[in-house]
Amino acid sequence: MIKDPPLLLLRVVLVLASAFLCSSQDYDFGTTAAAAPPPALEDCNGIFFSYTFISREKEFPHVKNVSAQSWAFKSEVVVINAGSEELKGWKVFVGFQHREILVSADGAVITDGGDFPADVGNGTYLSGYPMTDLKTSIDTAGDFKQIQAKVEMTGTMFGIRPKAVPMPKTIRLENDGFKCPAPHLHGKYIYILLLVTYMSYSIWLLF
Ligand SMILES: *[C@@H]1O[C@H](CO)[C@@H](O)[C@H](O)[C@H]1NC(C)=O
Ligand SMILES: *[C@@H]1O[C@H](CO)[C@@H](O)[C@H](O)[C@H]1NC(C)=O
Repeated sequence: MIKDPPLLLLRVVLVLASAFLCSSQDYDFGTTAAAAPPPALEDCNGIFFSYTFISREKEFPHVKNVSAQSWAFKSEVVVINAGSEELKGWKVFVGFQHREILVSADGAVITDGGDFPADVGNGTYLSGYPMTDLKTSIDTAGDFKQIQAKVEMTGTMFGIRPKAVPMPKTIRLENDGFKCPAPHLHGKYIYILLLVTYMSYSIWLLF
């Protein structure tokens, strides 16, 4: 099944490292984002995913009341199958908490079929579209286009202070058969979640 796990693992970590370096250039709050991938990635043998806050801009109308001010935001969810089994019909929960209105989500649909713009202030479920399934690195000779889904989101959020980085309360994978450790807030910008499938766990314990 896994012919060369150390090499596969290394490749995943390297590609992730470069992905993080690229996305960290987009932050616009004058604070340096963490450039190195989190240590958890080195053990990544299941499904990896992250939520990255990219930018925000004040929207009209401009008001004095901080809670009533709306902001246009951009953020990104990335899901990567770094395991040894195909992930069919991936589905994630993003626990938004700033009265968010999702305006677009390129690469996903709202799972319960809502149209955009969608009121997602209590969180929302996203499913891949058109990329509903994520193949394994093993079956695709490490083709990142087939093992990774990227969702680029735009929307509106309310009531955030000028320097704060608004993150969701939580994110999690909703597919069956995955153990979900708590997400990590990394360098204030990135939520990281490392999930290990019960089945592949024992395989990887050998290394
Ligand atoms: C500020 O805006 C919030 C949210 O729209 C509203 O609930 C609150 O009453 C407003 N406060 C003032 C002082 O107008
Ligand atoms: C979010 O939850 C609150 C409290 O349960 C509820 O009043 C509100 O209608 C919910 N909003 C949406 C968009 O579901």
